[in-house]
Amino acid sequence: MSRLIHSVKRSLPFIFFAFVLLCMVYFTPKSLRYLEGLIPMKKCPFAPGEKLKLGDGIDASLDLWSRVDVQTCTEWGAPLVWEGMFNPDYYDQEHRKNQSSVSLTVFAVGRYLDAYLERFLISAEQHFMVALPVTYYVFTDVPEKVPNIRLAPRRSLKVVKVQRHSRWQDISMMRMKTIADAIESQIRHHSQYVFCFDVDQVFADRFGSEALGDSVAVLHAYYYHRPQSMYTYDHNPRSRAFMETGDFYYHAAVFGGKWQMVKNMTESCYQTIMEDKENQVEALWHDESHLNKYLWLHKPSKVLSPEYCWTNDIGYRGDIRKTRLLWAKKQYDMLRITK
Ligand SMILES: *[C@@H]1O[C@H](CO)[C@@H](O)[C@H](O)[C@H]1NC(C)=O
Ligand SMILES: *[C@@H]1O[C@H](CO)[C@@H](O)[C@H](O)[C@H]1NC(C)=O
Repeated sequence: MSRLIHSVKRSLPFIFFAFVLLCMVYFTPKSLRYLEGLIPMKKCPFAPGEKLKLGDGIDASLDLWSRVDVQTCTEWGAPLVWEGMFNPDYYDQEHRKNQSSVSLTVFAVGRYLDAYLERFLISAEQHFMVALPVTYYVFTDVPEKVPNIRLAPRRSLKVVKVQRHSRWQDISMMRMKTIADAIESQIRHHSQYVFCFDVDQVFADRFGSEALGDSVAVLHAYYYHRPQSMYTYDHNPRSRAFMETGDFYYHAAVFGGKWQMVKNMTESCYQTIMEDKENQVEALWHDESHLNKYLWLHKPSKVLSPEYCWTNDIGYRGDIRKTRLLWAKKQYDMLRITK
């Protein structure tokens, strides 16, 4: 017995060393920084059996108490969607019954087209609203370079030529106006829902009809476990995006909803952006700041967990059981060559 204890004692330094090594491999410097100051998410304030205030009828089928490790609804009664809470087949079936259809908008301007568009579209064909008809809207300054992707039946792609702005900040802000215009002139005639995406992302798992709702926003992967004091809201009182407190920090790389709501959202953001321009201020995170302000004043009816816009830079997190959409690796080389 004592020999056993002795040999365990002797190997303790090795065990410790192996553990440290494992930790070093596991947590890259980036993810270590991320782990600073994490806080648990608030719990859903509704008791079991109590109904959500927002969300479509079908959202009554969500099991808010299947996940006790994360927040599954907001204080204003909207669902916050995580893996395990919904029945994907039921959602698809109900939306098929209602003949729901979805438009996806994406901007691929300049070098972003070469670097990201093809992978984005191919992966969307595999994972984005696979059960429903989808119309892709690709906004680009070089329509002739849009790759020819084989699309499944009832899915189509439209290319819309847009002007190229030299600053990416202007591109991302003008995007709001372009989306609003496309909804008015085209999308509203054939799709009930619109989802707007950044192009430098790749679908990796189901991004399905459970994500549909009146107005939908996604929690930013870097902030969902952070105290509000760390949210990067715009703190300049001269900007229309100024806010001191809010609900969450949303990621502008993904937002959507019924076309009526997305039209309002994008028009409104465009308006506040232009007012800032006239006053010669620019919000800290550009259109994202304005979107956060809008969503604070007009609460989304559905919030998506960071599963719906994740980055592996953060490292492993037990509450992320599926990564449905991932930020693409920055293609610096490609971006530089084609600049
Ligand atoms: C389908 O339409 C009905 C009637 O408008 C609505 O009550 C129901 O919530 C819709 N279902 C879905 C999945 O949107
Ligand atoms: C859109 O905004 C207008 C005014 O800004 C408002 O009257 C209308 O109800 C809004 N529509 C939706 C669907 O929110």
